[in-house]
Amino acid sequence: MEIIIKANPEEASRCAFEKIREEMESGAKVLGLATGSTPEKLYRIMRESDLDFSGMTSINLDEYMGLSEDNPHSYHHFMHEHLFDAKPFKKNYLLDGLADEAEECAQFEEVIAANPIDVQILGIGTNGHIGFNEPGTSFDSRTQKVALWQSTIDSNKRFFADEKDVPRFAYSMGIQSILSSRKIILMAFGTEKAAAVKAALEGPVTEEVPASVLQTHQHVTVILDEAAAQLL
Ligand code: GLP
Repeated sequence: MEIIIKANPEEASRCAFEKIREEMESGAKVLGLATGSTPEKLYRIMRESDLDFSGMTSINLDEYMGLSEDNPHSYHHFMHEHLFDAKPFKKNYLLDGLADEAEECAQFEEVIAANPIDVQILGIGTNGHIGFNEPGTSFDSRTQKVALWQSTIDSNKRFFADEKDVPRFAYSMGIQSILSSRKIILMAFGTEKAAAVKAALEGPVTEEVPASVLQTHQHVTVILDEAAAQLL
């Protein structure tokens, strides 16, 4: 595992962008993408770049259940606003929060199998979650319906008008789906992520800290700002 510490989120996001550029120049065709505030700067840098994504495929990690694609709080909407509208890809795969559970999850695993992810971008929750895989999720999990922890609901309510508007369930790629990616870039910024980063990188590999499973993957790059790295 390579750990890179940059002075601030802007420099860290530039570093992540350069890694993606190198991978694309070396033939990467499928990007696994994340939502949340962490990758926003990376997506801005991608939008403003001269990189051409028209031959690329994207696969997104997760989506709230019960929200339509055009709902401004859906991750579908987030991705279009932050990246896809400015940088069209050949194909964007996102989970459909309104679709039938069994069918949608099985179909998404087929998508991942048919389009192996070259580089997966990840953020991390304050409780150590990756995607929406909350503590206790099996390391053998594949794409499934998940119940969000109250701490995740509280973290994400800043995007909504009211806490009660935050969906309680989501579809998320599982831990095994994430680990099947050839390379993984985990980004974390800010003091509020420092404890989760320490547990994930230096603590035991345990299902109680989903991101700790990354210690078992061959090609992980962790890109932090100084605040998120302060407990290492
Ligand atoms: C969210 C998302 C994750 C994200 C994480 C951190 O709930 N489902 O994919 O990485 O939590 O979010 P943020 O980057 O906003 O801190």
